[in-house]
Amino acid sequence: MDFSELKNNAEKELEKIIDSKELKGFSDKYLGKKGEIRKFFSFVKDLALEEKKVLGQEINEFAERLESKVAEMEREMKVADTKDKEENEKIDVTLSGEKIETGHLHPMTQVRREMENIFQLMGFTVVEGQEIEDEWHNFDALNIPEGHPARDALSLGKTFYLKGGNVLRTQTSSAQVRYMKKMKPPIRIIVPGRVYRYETTDASHEINFYQIEGLLVDEDVSVANLKAVLQRFLQEFFQREVEIRLRPSYFPFTEPSFEVDMLCTVCNGKGCSACKRTGWVEILGAGMVHPNVIKNGGLDPKRYKGFAFGLSIDRPTMMKYRINDVRLFHSGNLKFLKQF
Ligand code: PHE
Repeated sequence: MDFSELKNNAEKELEKIIDSKELKGFSDKYLGKKGEIRKFFSFVKDLALEEKKVLGQEINEFAERLESKVAEMEREMKVADTKDKEENEKIDVTLSGEKIETGHLHPMTQVRREMENIFQLMGFTVVEGQEIEDEWHNFDALNIPEGHPARDALSLGKTFYLKGGNVLRTQTSSAQVRYMKKMKPPIRIIVPGRVYRYETTDASHEINFYQIEGLLVDEDVSVANLKAVLQRFLQEFFQREVEIRLRPSYFPFTEPSFEVDMLCTVCNGKGCSACKRTGWVEILGAGMVHPNVIKNGGLDPKRYKGFAFGLSIDRPTMMKYRINDVRLFHSGNLKFLKQF
């Protein structure tokens, strides 16, 4: 083989090399232990002394040049590699980030807050009661004596009794006496929260729903005040003129007691399926606080009067947004929840 041909080939190949992998292959091929240059040395070995000297030196020089060239290229490639990497890994802090999807408040939480705001504007303070109540606050203090059907676990009462004698409150009214004892009149509070009833669940009944209790105690309070506050509240909540009527009813802890109806917002009183063809929708229970309850709150019933009301959060929410199944609220169904 001709040495100059080997040289030519090597030089041409070297020019075409673009990455370190190819460079390694090249270096193995020519400079390796079984590489082309070694092979040539074994051929030179058998030549005459003079020729051996000349050619041997030429080969040595070439091998050295090749080696230093390969080493240099290796270095260059390494630098380029790290530069590439740095380029790829560079963080541009000015780029807009990926948006993290955030949820939103449950429709009933939104509505509760809306209701709280309206009452706060009318001077009511938002307070909390307790979901686990003793029987006295849930019943006795509210003029519901032992043996009263409202205390039943089943049928009328629908009370969940806990081991040890406490109950899951069946109504937020259980907070009335607690706050009468804690505050001095004038008392103006609302108590939003969960209540529990032993119900067979269907489209309009849940064992667990939300109420807002309202309580106002002062020296001079009338049914007219009660009606005005409720009408104003409903008007703000539904954002329209509303007509309400007070229907005589019975609650042990109010006297007189009322069922408050609102002119049906769907048919404007003409009668439709939403109002069961009556033109009116029952929306809350209310009344003037019974003197016994005022007494249980540690106040003098001769001096103090009050009104109270119990409003469900679920029902007006369903009316406002035309939701036809109360069970959707607790379903965790995102298709439903995302609409609000
Ligand atoms: N607690 C009653 C209920 O749950 C509502 C109510 C509250 C009625 C306050 C009168 C006064 O049905």
